[in-house]
Amino acid sequence: MTQGTAIDEVGVALGARSYKVRIGAGLLARAGAEIAPLLARPRVAVVTDETVAGLHLEALRAGLGDIAMAALALPAGEATKGWAQLSRTVDWLLAEKVERRDIVIALGGGVIGDLAGFAAAVLRRGVRFVQVPTTLLAQVDSSVGGKTGINSALGKNLIGAFHQPSLVLADTGVLASLPARDLLSGYGEVVKYGLLGDAGFFDWLEAHGPALAAGDGQARQEAVRRSVAMKAGIVERDETEAGERALLNLGHTFGHALEAATGYSGRLLHGEGVAIGCALAFALSQRLGLCSQEAPSRVRAHLKAMGMTCDLADIPGDLPGAEALMALMAQDKKVVDGRLRFILVRGIGSAFVADDVPPEAVKAVLEDALAGR
Ligand code: GLY
Repeated sequence: MTQGTAIDEVGVALGARSYKVRIGAGLLARAGAEIAPLLARPRVAVVTDETVAGLHLEALRAGLGDIAMAALALPAGEATKGWAQLSRTVDWLLAEKVERRDIVIALGGGVIGDLAGFAAAVLRRGVRFVQVPTTLLAQVDSSVGGKTGINSALGKNLIGAFHQPSLVLADTGVLASLPARDLLSGYGEVVKYGLLGDAGFFDWLEAHGPALAAGDGQARQEAVRRSVAMKAGIVERDETEAGERALLNLGHTFGHALEAATGYSGRLLHGEGVAIGCALAFALSQRLGLCSQEAPSRVRAHLKAMGMTCDLADIPGDLPGAEALMALMAQDKKVVDGRLRFILVRGIGSAFVADDVPPEAVKAVLEDALAGR
């Protein structure tokens, strides 16, 4: 497998809360040198999950060199992202005597990054943390931008805080340890960036996506770099999602409803829901006369060429009907004044926020998609 040779760096410029996202193979091995400038004393507390701990914790420990490391490994999976494991994590950090000048490290995918980041946000009214994302999804999306939190019984990510990391170390070499399905799920978020704001990036993905999936390290590093650069720009302009940041939710209103309908289970991973959601958002945009017929066809062709989920038929098992799916969308936190907010498109690379989408058009798109199962 080829690997990128140099480390890329993307800055997130947020005044006093600015930080760097470092991207490339081998960052775990040099974690000590990367993190040392942030430390007031040579020790860190690492929050991870049991799967990631088995794969990467010793590499991180070795990379930290003389920096002492305590680690908490939580159960792997979305169910961890709730009050019980948050409470356990905060109590563990307190028992480890983590102080405000210390650093918490989140080593893992989106669940660990969100939970550990939220624990850092509330611990002693806020301690600094470093994201060390180990999945493609976390490297291109959840580790950057400071959204932290946990799920409620009433919905995903309903409890949380904006708390920016002090550094992100995206070691693209660790992506080699990801199961193919998890890598492709993360790729759903990569495609999202091209679709929402950079048609040239989508062209690049059409050309290089297959090599990326097959293990080309340089293609992986470049895809992460371009995705993070896009996200950084959006977060700099709209940190708290008052406007433009909502574009990052392209595909998510449909996707979250499908995740809820499948019980947040292994039937549908988050990025798979996003990929199907993007295809549905393009279908809805075309139905509303906002984009050409060619755009949704091209999106679906790329998802299919990558072997990704793109249709409701790709979800195993039964799904509820269109009205039940719409009811699930109505619980989404992106509902404003009871109106469904969708990210729609005028074409590839040209997304916008729409608050006035006719429910009958949404229902018709879902009915068509369900009929295709
Ligand atoms: N994952 C969407 C955002 O960070 O805004």
